[in-house]
Amino acid sequence: MNTGESFIINGGNPLVGDVRVSGAKNAVLVQLAALLLADGVSILHNVPDIADVHSMIELLQFFGAQVVFDTQAHVVTVDTTQVAFALPPAAMLTKFRASILITGALLTRFGASFFTAPGGCPIGERPINLHMHAFKSLGADEIIDGERHSIVAPADGLVGALCIFDYPSVGATENALLAAICAKGRTAIYNAALEPEIFDLVNMLRSMGANISYDVPAMIIVEGVERTELAPVNWTVLPDRLEAGTWLYAAAITGGNVLVHDAPIEHMYVVLQQLDQMGHVVEIDEQNGVVRLKGSKKYSAVSCKTMPHPGFPTDLQSPLLALLSCAQGVGKITETVYENRFLAVEPLCTMGAQITMCNSTVTVTGVDDLIGAEVEGKDIRASAALMIAGLRAQGITRVSTGHHLARGYERFVEKAQALGADITVAK
Ligand code: UD1
Repeated sequence: MNTGESFIINGGNPLVGDVRVSGAKNAVLVQLAALLLADGVSILHNVPDIADVHSMIELLQFFGAQVVFDTQAHVVTVDTTQVAFALPPAAMLTKFRASILITGALLTRFGASFFTAPGGCPIGERPINLHMHAFKSLGADEIIDGERHSIVAPADGLVGALCIFDYPSVGATENALLAAICAKGRTAIYNAALEPEIFDLVNMLRSMGANISYDVPAMIIVEGVERTELAPVNWTVLPDRLEAGTWLYAAAITGGNVLVHDAPIEHMYVVLQQLDQMGHVVEIDEQNGVVRLKGSKKYSAVSCKTMPHPGFPTDLQSPLLALLSCAQGVGKITETVYENRFLAVEPLCTMGAQITMCNSTVTVTGVDDLIGAEVEGKDIRASAALMIAGLRAQGITRVSTGHHLARGYERFVEKAQALGADITVAK
């Protein structure tokens, strides 16, 4: 068992009530890094109080940023006036994968940056070749010294270029954007990732003074501006579609009736349609960002493949596995984004799920009920999957999540309790 937090869930209560979705983890982490681009005081609103945000704040502080996080108001104030280049200890970077997103911002601000193999969830090999490809396309050099890779811009700065990705990596697209903001001339990022969190980043960068547009097919165009043209920003972070999806699944698996507020509905169509196809009642109030999910006691299995946005998100694959475990019939999920993201399979089987795995596809034969057990969540989304499985299971489930649940979900336990879940933090 890993160390860190464990939760004790007495399953079987249908979740009922209202839950509010926090700001998106995958938007705010890169947005915090992007604040390094401009001098002065920026303010981010709707910032989730999750461990990865605190890790990114620590990193900004290491570079000399003055940061205040009002966790009740969900507001972060970042003053980058005193920021200076320095090499952080490796442990600071290996704590969370998104530390890599600091690289492009530092390259723009200082003409130099670095990589240390970033940490995060053990969901696959997670190479950084596409990030490097972006920097090299703009004229940067890579200098390798043991574990540390330094990235150095030419003396007269990065130069806009055509950056072609053979896969639409989210992080590499973000780093390409951050590096291209002040490169001379035009950068075209081809086969760019088009996740909603990238659009939120682009919109924030535009408010800072960046010149960014889109073209078909999947192209993001950046016309470089002088760094002095970039200004601090006052920005509200997009709500988290992955957290919203998790609460909808929690309502569905428990046969509950939950109103999910602040759901970014326009980014969740595939997930919402699938819930409807399973036989749950999904009522959408798109204008107000509210979804009501009335869970059906007997719902049908579905099959899908994970894909880059707007396809079915890989981050909801584990939570969907939990839901399929109690569906009627047989569902299949093929994971196409990560090679090792079936971390929920084994613990769900310990809870009585019938899941078989063949290469990148799992087949789930629904069972009438899951049985409480002692299980471990080895990444953020597997942890969330086990929590919602525990909410459905008969008897007591003890989920140990290490630090993973807190890395991605704000106040999961409190939100679940407010919906009637019988769940406590283990001593
Ligand atoms: C981001 C999200 C993560 C989500 C993922 C895919 C953040 C902080 N995290 O992660 O929650 O699951 O997008 O939607 O935003 N790859 C390479 N070379 C590279 C980079 C990536 O081969 O240089 C591969 C990865 O190994 C993976 C796939 O591309 O198999 C997708 O990775 P990527 O889109 O980069 O995900 P992240 O940005 O790490």
